[in-house]
Amino acid sequence: MAISRERQHIGYLIGACVGVTAVVLLLSPELQSARAKGPMNRGHESLTCESCHLAAPGTTRQQIQANIAYLLGTRKSPADFGYEAVGNDDCLACHERPNDRHPVFRFLEPRFADARREVGAHQCMGCHAEHRGTRVTNDGTFCRSCHERFEMDADPATPTHQELADQGVWQSCLRCHDFHGNHVKGAPGDLDEAAPEGAVHEYLMGGDSPYGEARRFRAREARP
Ligand code: HEC
Ligand code: HEC
Ligand code: HEC
Ligand code: HEC
Ligand code: HEC
Repeated sequence: MAISRERQHIGYLIGACVGVTAVVLLLSPELQSARAKGPMNRGHESLTCESCHLAAPGTTRQQIQANIAYLLGTRKSPADFGYEAVGNDDCLACHERPNDRHPVFRFLEPRFADARREVGAHQCMGCHAEHRGTRVTNDGTFCRSCHERFEMDADPATPTHQELADQGVWQSCLRCHDFHGNHVKGAPGDLDEAAPEGAVHEYLMGGDSPYGEARRFRAREARP
């Protein structure tokens, strides 16, 4: 026999209360040191929690009431409790830049539906989940989702782009190109002159840049 709907709701309510208490405890200023969810990513070591975790609208009481209404079926969506979910706008508050060659908003177009599903290319967190102590949280071979066909009159690369794609050598892309185009250094023409695969991997894991230190844009230290 299936459990009755009411019982399920009570179960959810208890679960939600426990979860909610945990999140409140984790984010409360009194517990600064004990609350970290995991090591901050590279570059974020000195940011305050509130740089990304904004307080959700409404009083605690209103938030609880709204979530109970949701669990009982009289409200369509849950309300953020305590803190809002972190999204692109939070990242862009400090990282907005006019010259990003892969801006997230671009990938909302219908033709990128597969890429959204495969890599979450429309969300910073698709590739930069936080509290992981790294820089990028995927293996960097996701170019495949959008760049399988190359039509270049004179391919500037050796091996050619189409050869690399046909052979499925997707780990080569980041050896020559950065992703956002924020590094001043351009792509080399020969794979033999490119950064070694290991150096790219180190960088994604949080190590130093294989594209040189010079960048066009630096992030703000605090939200405007
Ligand atoms: C640079 C932005 C950023 C900063 C700064 C930051 N967080 Fe987070 N935090 C996130 C993101 C994004 C998530 C969502 C999970 C993910 O993508 O890894 C998250 C998730 C969490 C969660 C889990 C809650 C949930 O809903 O999953 C807790 C708890 C948390 N952070 C606590 C903290 C604390 C404590 C600090 C300060 C020491 C902090 N965060 C600083 C971005 C940040
Ligand atoms: C309060 C401002 C602020 C917010 C909000 C913020 N960052 Fe950062 N971020 C910085 C600073 C400052 C650095 C270090 C300086 C730099 O690399 O430009 C940095 C560094 C980074 C780096 C590494 C840069 C490098 O050294 O190669 C990545 C990746 C990054 N942030 C992504 C994100 C993402 C994704 C979010 C949203 C979850 C986010 N940031 C939110 C300020 C911020
Ligand atoms: C589809 C994957 C993907 C998405 C989505 C993505 N990034 Fe990145 N990001 C990368 C990769 C790969 C690198 C490492 C290569 C490089 O430095 O460009 C990187 C590097 C960075 C860096 C360090 C180098 C630099 O450009 O200064 C910052 C900062 C950054 N990302 C911020 C963001 C922010 C903010 C968003 C959302 C607006 C975002 N990224 C969305 C894949 C992604
Ligand atoms: C979600 C889809 C998507 C993904 C994933 C993606 N790209 Fe792109 N990329 C694009 C689009 C769209 C353009 C712009 C093409 C145009 O304007 O005709 C582009 C342009 C570029 C350019 C040319 C930029 C310029 O200004 O000339 C390079 C280089 C590039 N991508 C490399 C990469 C690399 C390397 C990866 C993987 C690390 C990657 N891309 C992943 C969609 C994507
Ligand atoms: C040996 C270095 C090298 C490798 C490996 C490489 N590229 Fe390139 N790529 C270049 C150069 C050089 C250019 C032309 C200058 C530029 O756009 O930076 C270029 C241009 C591009 C462009 C712009 C194309 C256009 O029509 O203008 C895209 C997109 C691109 N590369 C994607 C990729 C992807 C995806 C991979 C992985 C399969 C890759 N590249 C591997 C060196 C390389």
